[in-house]
Amino acid sequence: MSQIPGSSGYALMGDKSFEFYKDPMHFCNSRIHSNGSRIFQARLLNKPTIFVCSVKGMKELLCEKVNVFDTSYTASMCKLFGDTVCFTNGEEAQLLRMSLMQLFRGKALDTYADCINRVCARNLKDLSLSSEPVAIYSLFKRLATELVLAIFLNVDAEESAALSKQITQLSTQHWHGLISAPVNVKVSVWSSGFSQALEAKQKLLKIISEHLKSEEDGLISKIRDVPFPENTNAAQHLLLFISALIPKALASLLTSFTLELAGSNKISVRKRAQENEDYLNHVLLEVERLWPSFIGGRRIAKQDTTLCGYKVPKGYLALFVAFAVHRDPDIFDDPDEFQPERWSGRNAGQEKLLCCFGNGSRNCIGIELNNMILKTAVAYLLNHYSWDLDPPSQSLDYKWLPVSRPTEDPKIKFTSWTYKT
Ligand code: HEM
Repeated sequence: MSQIPGSSGYALMGDKSFEFYKDPMHFCNSRIHSNGSRIFQARLLNKPTIFVCSVKGMKELLCEKVNVFDTSYTASMCKLFGDTVCFTNGEEAQLLRMSLMQLFRGKALDTYADCINRVCARNLKDLSLSSEPVAIYSLFKRLATELVLAIFLNVDAEESAALSKQITQLSTQHWHGLISAPVNVKVSVWSSGFSQALEAKQKLLKIISEHLKSEEDGLISKIRDVPFPENTNAAQHLLLFISALIPKALASLLTSFTLELAGSNKISVRKRAQENEDYLNHVLLEVERLWPSFIGGRRIAKQDTTLCGYKVPKGYLALFVAFAVHRDPDIFDDPDEFQPERWSGRNAGQEKLLCCFGNGSRNCIGIELNNMILKTAVAYLLNHYSWDLDPPSQSLDYKWLPVSRPTEDPKIKFTSWTYKT
């Protein structure tokens, strides 16, 4: 059994967190190249960490060895989100997942359709009337924020504008605490942003608890009946669901979709996506493959083990890096190219090799809901508009944190459009 390529260096001095977070894609690509391996080690957050950048490694980590590697989020995340399934492991996590998933699957999903249609139409209906090009990441984040508040708390941005604004501001404050938490020193050295975030958390939990006590219908009435171990757990999960994280992730994918299909040279792609649901699914898969919202997820080895034949000592962290896994040339030909056709060709039926929504038995419990939201929003765009970058030349350099998106919010001119058949 051989050592994992690369080095985890010495404590503190050997830490590569700054380098990684500054440009994760360059960090991974340069190490994949220098180590000659898509699995390598480096010191991250001052811990020896294995970077998993191959499909085979990701599958082994998240599926075959799911019982050997526990989820391992940072202490600051646990503090900010409290007791949720994300920070639980083993049987308890599986029981929680089963209960929660009933809210986001099959027939339960139909109950959100009207709300999703209404919020998408409200936010997307007048795009061609705007005299200025539209900053699309901001547009989609507003849409997704309205959606999560409507779905999870029954708070409509128009009917309850003041409350919606208050919750959105608190979620932003809550979120800023997460990103202001020091990444490479102990959380006990809290920043003021972090304590403000904890204050925001308490206020949000109070609002959520009041909604839980009311007689409202919808998801809020169903989550009350989930048999959680503690009676505070329903509120904590709702806090996670309405946090800024989910709107950002949805806005990231909607932005990448809009960019990939922008321009007069993409008319035939947009037309085909509008007319053919399979092709639209392949376009969305390709957006998720190239531009997954999140960098990935972290695990910790509970015991000495192996990954792709390399020795992994107990206590080592492992990070699956979604954008790197998705560009594994062993599985995806021309991995950096946007080719929806690959999903009906060489990669047909291989959706489960992606990890935009995680993979295996700890994958995202909101996958079906996400798909419903994404498909409703992009169908609205395809049915009503043609779109182009305006100005035509803009910097589209992506950043990856907290979610993937161009550093500068892209500006798009939408034109009213119906495809002639
Ligand atoms: C575009 C939107 C979303 C993206 C990209 C996304 C992505 C992910 C990813 C990558 C994971 C796995 C993390 C890991 O393995 O460490 C995950 C887990 C999770 N997601 Fe999502 N998610 C999204 C939306 C949602 C929504 C709408 C919900 C709420 C219903 C949700 C609830 C969860 C939960 C509870 C987990 C943890 C599951 C567990 O620990 O077993 N996510 N998500």
